[in-house]
Order: sequence, then C-alpha cells, then structure tokens
Amino acid sequence: KKAKSTIFIIFGGTGDLTKRKIMPALYNLFLDGWLPEKFAIIGTSSTKMNDVKYKGELLASVNEFSRKGKSKKEEWSEFASNIFHQAADITDASTFKPFGDYIEKFKKEWEEETPSVVYYCAVAPHFFCTIAHNILIAKLDNSPETARIVIEKPFGTDLESAKALNAKLLTLFQENQIYRIDHYLGKEVVQNIMAFRFANSIMEPLWNRNHIEHVQISVTEQIGIGTRGKYFEQAGILRDMIQNHLLQLLCIIAMEPPVNFDADEVRNRKVDILKAMRKIVPSEIDSMSARGQYGSGWIEGKEVIGYREEENVEPHSNTETFAALKLYVDNWRWQGVPFYLRTGKRLFKSASQITIQFKEVPHNIFHCEEGNTPKKNRLVISIQPDMAIQFQLQSKSPGLEMNLNSMNMIFDYSGVAKSETPEAYETLLLDIISGDQTLFMRADQVEEAWELIMPVLNFWENSKTADFPNYPADSWGPENAEALIARDGYHWFNLPEK
Ligand code: BG6
Repeated sequence: KKAKSTIFIIFGGTGDLTKRKIMPALYNLFLDGWLPEKFAIIGTSSTKMNDVKYKGELLASVNEFSRKGKSKKEEWSEFASNIFHQAADITDASTFKPFGDYIEKFKKEWEEETPSVVYYCAVAPHFFCTIAHNILIAKLDNSPETARIVIEKPFGTDLESAKALNAKLLTLFQENQIYRIDHYLGKEVVQNIMAFRFANSIMEPLWNRNHIEHVQISVTEQIGIGTRGKYFEQAGILRDMIQNHLLQLLCIIAMEPPVNFDADEVRNRKVDILKAMRKIVPSEIDSMSARGQYGSGWIEGKEVIGYREEENVEPHSNTETFAALKLYVDNWRWQGVPFYLRTGKRLFKSASQITIQFKEVPHNIFHCEEGNTPKKNRLVISIQPDMAIQFQLQSKSPGLEMNLNSMNMIFDYSGVAKSETPEAYETLLLDIISGDQTLFMRADQVEEAWELIMPVLNFWENSKTADFPNYPADSWGPENAEALIARDGYHWFNLPEK
C-alpha cells in the first residue's frame, strides 16, 4: 500500500550520511515502487547551490553507493525531478522560512491538505535540538498527525546527556513523532529473528535457561576508525557499538513474546529486558569485561597504522577500540545464562553473528570414543556479511558403525542476491514514511541502555590502562577477551583457523 504524499527536509543534505545512505535508500525505494506517488526531497546545507548541481552530486553518490549499482538515465531523471536544494543556517530560524514556502507549494500542487513532512537531521548531534526548536520558531508543520523528526545516534554521550536530550526534544515534539535510528534494527536478518522466534512453535519451549547454556553476540570489523578520530576519541567502542547495536540485538534475543506486533508493545518487551539486566558493580568490572586498543599490523596485505597513530587521536590515548562484556538478564527465562558481547575494530574478519549455545545432552548413550561424544547444539544467526540462520545438530555418519557427526541445517537466503536485499536504511525510511516506529529507539530504551553501561564507562575512564595498544591489527582482539569467556569454560565461536 502506497504511503501518503511526503515532503522530506534533509538537514545535512550534502553530508556523508545523506550521500552514502539516505539518498541511495530513497532512490531504491523509488525504483521498487515504495515511495508515495507524490514526494519531494529538499536537501539543505549552509551554502547556496542550484538544484542542478545538487542533483549532480547526489547522482554521483547514488551511483557509487547504491546496492543496485549505476542508475539508469531516465529513472534517475524521473526521481531527481522531485529533488531541490535550499541553503539554510541551522542555527537561524529565519532561514527556515523557505521550507514553509515549499510545504505550501506542494500542498497546492498536489491538492493535498496534509502531506507528511519528515525532518531528517543528518547532522552532528549537538544540532538536533536546535533544528527541532527552529522548526517551531519558523512555524513549520509540527503537527503530530503529519510531522516526523528523524535523528541518528549518538543519543547523548552518557545517561545524563541522553536524558537531557530526550527531555528537550520532548518539549518540542511528541514521542510518536521522534524516530531515533539504530540501523542494526533495519538489517534483514535482524528483522528475521523475530519471525524465527515468534512464528515457529518449536522455538519457544527451548528458548530459556533450561535449554540454553550461553549466548554470544559478536560484531567484529576489519576497518579502523579512519577519519573519525575526533569522534572516536570521545566515544570509544562501548558507546559507539555496545550501548546501541549490541544491546539491541541482545534485547531481540532475550525479549518475551509480544502480544502483537505493535510498535509500543514490541518496544515495551525490549525495554523489559534492559530493566532486567543485572547491574554491573565496579568491583566486578574486571572479571565481567575486557577492553582493548588496536596496534599496527597488516590487513589483507596492506600495512595499517595503530589507533594511536590515527589522525586526531592522542598519542597516549586511553580510548578502547575493542570491548567485551559478560551480562546477565535477571528474570525467570534467563536466570544464570551468560550473554557474552564483543565488538572491535581492526579485527581478523568483519562479521556480525549471534550464537545460541544449547546445553549438552543429559546422558550420552553412545560409545564415548574420542570425537564421538555428541557436541552441543548451536543456533548461529549470521547477520553480515553472510546472511544465514543455521542449526548445528548431531547425526550419524553414514556407514556401518554408529559414529556421530555434526551437521548444519541452514537457511542461507540462497537465491536472494545481495543486490536484491534491501539495505537497513531502505527498511527504516519506509517505516518513517508509513509512520511505523517498531524498529526505532524510544526514549526509555536509550536511557536504560546508558544506565546499564555507565558503571563500565566510568570505571574505564577512571582506571587508565598501561598496556594499550594490546592487540595487533588482524587479530581477534586482546587476550583478556579470551580470558573473559575462558574463565567460564567457553570460547568465542567461529574463529577461523589462521
Ligand atoms: C556505526 C558505528 O553505528 O556502525 C561505526 O558508529 C560502525 O563505528 C558501524 O563501523 C557498523 O555498521 P555496519 O552496518 O557496517 O555493521
């Protein structure tokens, strides 16, 4: 079903996010027939630029970053006829007036009284409130029925600043108008976790402490911090990845079945998990966490510098580029089941994966010769780069003897080409257009996640490490991350042989 006519006003219209993610996503939605019949995209930046030049810049980035590759001339021209550029100073409400004129113009042209208006803040976070405030001062449409505002992480830099940001935004817009993006929630396989858990009756009876031994959530990246030194020095990977993406994945794995698929019902169930997470106490942080910083090394035949040599990074920086945590959810379903989270830059492989490790069989009836004990079942959810959900089961090896073998039952999305799988931003933009907040972060989710990690953030800030950098590029991170999980008798899964 086509959504209502929509006017997008993109602040940061010439920025990286707009060029790499937002525009390719809008274009793909257009090509696949998902955009409303009538839409307009007004990109805004501080410098004056005519529409033709602006469209030219966008075309170049769409060609470079779209999953569908280079655009076709006619299709692009049709799409681009809806794009405009408008110079504005974010901090000066008087420069917002032209947006109002645009809105009025489209209302008339489209003969539509109430088109949706999406204000997308693709700018640095300290501008979010200024933009929201100036939208009101300039008397642009802010009606809860039609206006939506989109913001990107980081939502604050700690609990206090996140609360202040939420409080301020909520004086300007209502919660149901605010779309806080965590792009992990838009990923195809991540969305499938809900279907997998709640559309199959065989999952629920197994999905608890009686059958699950532990859970691992691992998001490893080969890339370094690149040109983002300034941001990363202030952030560190705990803020950058765990506070949002990894904790959200944990919530989807651990949440109780929602009663229905309504946005607030789903988000209530997720926030229940954050509330049930065991508080991290300072005296346990050393045994429940690990941190690291990458040194130099070689990645795929290329020499790479260490974190401390990166642009805009302090030569003695204490910022972590790797973090691992052991967490517990204190409720009936999960009591005693450890959740291990790890993420880092400049690691051996880029892969996002969740592994559910089941308990071993209660009694082994097979001859226990070497290699013939049943291995524990495992459910492996591969989010990227491979997309797959696989069950590792035990079976008999074909032959005269009763020998056991591990085999995989795989749902591997085969037949679905990468270029046919919507990008997270396509899913999320479509949800914004149609007003569905299920995959967006609510204020309380953001705050609960900050609350959980604050003790670790504070502890790490106040206890400088002497051993940074403590892992070379192209490794699996620092040794203390191995120790964290080895203490419980487990190891991180899928470490490919070197
Ligand atoms: C972003 C982080 O939110 O997610 C980046 O700021 C990180 O540091 C990125 O590289 C990872 O996203 P993806 O989709 O490439 O896994």
